Amino acid sequence: MRAPVVIIGTGQAGFQAAASLRAEGYDDPVVMIGEEPHHPYQRPPLSKAFMTGKQDAQNIFLRPSAFYQDHRIDLLAGEKAVEIDRANRRVRLASGSNVAYQTLVLATGARVRTLPIRGAELDGVCYLRTVDDAIDIKTRLEDARNVVVIGGGFIGLELASSARSLGKSVTVVELQPRLMARMVAPLLSEFYRKVHSGQAVEIVLGAAPVEIRGQDGRAREVRLSDGTLRPADVVAVGIGVLPNFELARDAGLAVSNGIAVDAYLRTGDENIYAIGDCAEHPNVFAAGRVRLESVQNAVDQGRSVAAAIEGRPHRYESVPWFWTDQFDVRLQMVGLSMGHDRIVTRGDPQSRKFSVFYFRKGRLIAIDSINRPADHMIGRKLLASGVALTPDQASDESLDLKRLPPASPSM
Ligand code: APR
Repeated sequence: MRAPVVIIGTGQAGFQAAASLRAEGYDDPVVMIGEEPHHPYQRPPLSKAFMTGKQDAQNIFLRPSAFYQDHRIDLLAGEKAVEIDRANRRVRLASGSNVAYQTLVLATGARVRTLPIRGAELDGVCYLRTVDDAIDIKTRLEDARNVVVIGGGFIGLELASSARSLGKSVTVVELQPRLMARMVAPLLSEFYRKVHSGQAVEIVLGAAPVEIRGQDGRAREVRLSDGTLRPADVVAVGIGVLPNFELARDAGLAVSNGIAVDAYLRTGDENIYAIGDCAEHPNVFAAGRVRLESVQNAVDQGRSVAAAIEGRPHRYESVPWFWTDQFDVRLQMVGLSMGHDRIVTRGDPQSRKFSVFYFRKGRLIAIDSINRPADHMIGRKLLASGVALTPDQASDESLDLKRLPPASPSM
């Protein structure tokens, strides 16, 4: 029998690689190694439906546990891979044993950036990445009155929305002068500032925490860079994530802002692939190399790598998309908007149903839709097919975007 395909990481990407291998009829052994003592689960609900009690922990699993036995996926949950021995094609585990591989898939994900300030070690300072983190924050919220959220990105704002929906007094502290600056246009940042302010979430922009003060080892208040203080029973930190590339780097593989892979998601070692949050890949929608943190990217790269292992490699060219739910507002994003030089809106922001179209050198590169799922779905098709859309057409609501002529072959 051949050595297994070994997948390090049991998040969305690792799970998808294993599931797709079996779905495509791959017959050799498949082993998954995951540090967390759980079966693969979905992360998106953790900050939202799970946090507010609308979805319980049993419902977040990607498959019931029988799935792994039924599909002969050997899931080593609670095992940490500590070294890749490329010469002998094996992975060493923290428990001391070795797992041989024929092909290795690194789906090691990302970890939270931690806050480097005095008091950050106090009880009540929380980060959200895993289901155990989420259970901890949820439990703490039950007794909390004041919640300070550090970081006005996706995680911070979703947590702020959930905590506020649970009746907590919430302050969000964001370093940049606007919310979600990494991902959206200033117009949307301002829209979100109003959404949160309208729900009595205090938004403090252009400020950072400088110290967390505590009592008896527990966080009590946060001092901000503007000198003001906020009371806090829970300090929830969402200041971004860092790719887990150390295993790859220590094995001599190239890393930069992630594990470097080619268009087929292969590292410099032909037997090793990297996918999901940890992988820096060439992306046709980015005009360059990127590392994407999204469910879509994890799922599509998981499928892609399974096809490659099965002997049917294809270039990874999926249209990137993302979403975030905060209060009653759903933002769906398609494409990658960085480097845009023009934006136009379709629909009226006052109505809370509108889309922002991003262009670079006259070409549509991304669409962010607020409570307009139809625009998002059309956007996925437009971007995938490369249909030419002018800014004037994008803003013209009398034009049915579904009826645009197909892209000319020269595009
Ligand atoms: N004080 C306040 N804000 C800060 C600080 C700081 N010291 N450092 C960074 N920030 C802000 C950033 O300016 C940014 O707006 O924190 C925000 C982090 O936002 P994201 O980069 O979107 O990261 P995060 O919200 O943590 O989400 C991490 O998890 O679920 C995924 O899709 C999500 O990819 C995202 C990832």
